[in-house]
Amino acid sequence: MTCNPEWRYRLIMIKPSSLAAFAEQKLDALRDAALDRHLHPTARGAGMTARRHGQDLISFSDNDYLGLSTDPRLIEAAVDATRRYGAGAGASRLVSGDHPLYARLEARLAAFKGTEDAVVFGSGYLANIGSVPVFVGREDLIVIDEWAHACLHSGARLAQSRCLRFPHNDMHSLDHLLATHRRDHRHALIITDGVFSMDGDQAPLAELTALAQKHQGC
Ligand SMILES: Cc1ncc(COP(=O)(O)O)c(C=O)c1O
Repeated sequence: MTCNPEWRYRLIMIKPSSLAAFAEQKLDALRDAALDRHLHPTARGAGMTARRHGQDLISFSDNDYLGLSTDPRLIEAAVDATRRYGAGAGASRLVSGDHPLYARLEARLAAFKGTEDAVVFGSGYLANIGSVPVFVGREDLIVIDEWAHACLHSGARLAQSRCLRFPHNDMHSLDHLLATHRRDHRHALIITDGVFSMDGDQAPLAELTALAQKHQGC
């Protein structure tokens, strides 16, 4: 791992009191903007239930849609795999952590989805910040639904493309943005969620596809 020595020096030079003041200042700004967030310890119960603050609740706020996280067959398989292969890859995939099981999993996923290939990521967030910069770069344009998940906005930032937001599911605004800006860029990428996780509504994929085709290579 490389580390900028100047950086290390600067970090050591911050006095604890100034770090605390810096943290307080940041937290105050978040509170003022109603953007401060807190963790709420929540134990998973059976089925759709969860226990939080001493109460048993029905959870409508998870993505364990099929209850797989508590399925005895999966638990057994995970315990068995841990015994056989260990509790972690032990290294990044690009170095020496590319266990042959990944290739087997990815081949099966690709066959299931009917695609040429597949790549697995450690989480949904990582998948989106990892994949958006693959498609576009500095010379390109991203047009993104303003309500797309935060990880897609993070991926767009990492890609360093010019990034324009369109109002949620507003195809007229998207069309206008593409008509105005598409020609100034090498490639353009339209980003949206399929199903929006906070509200449950869907993106009009057929209309989005038609707009992508209309502005293709303009
Ligand atoms: C639409 C959407 N994308 C991405 C994510 C991030 O997924 P993960 O929690 O696996 O990082 C979530 C998480 O809730 C999501 O709802």
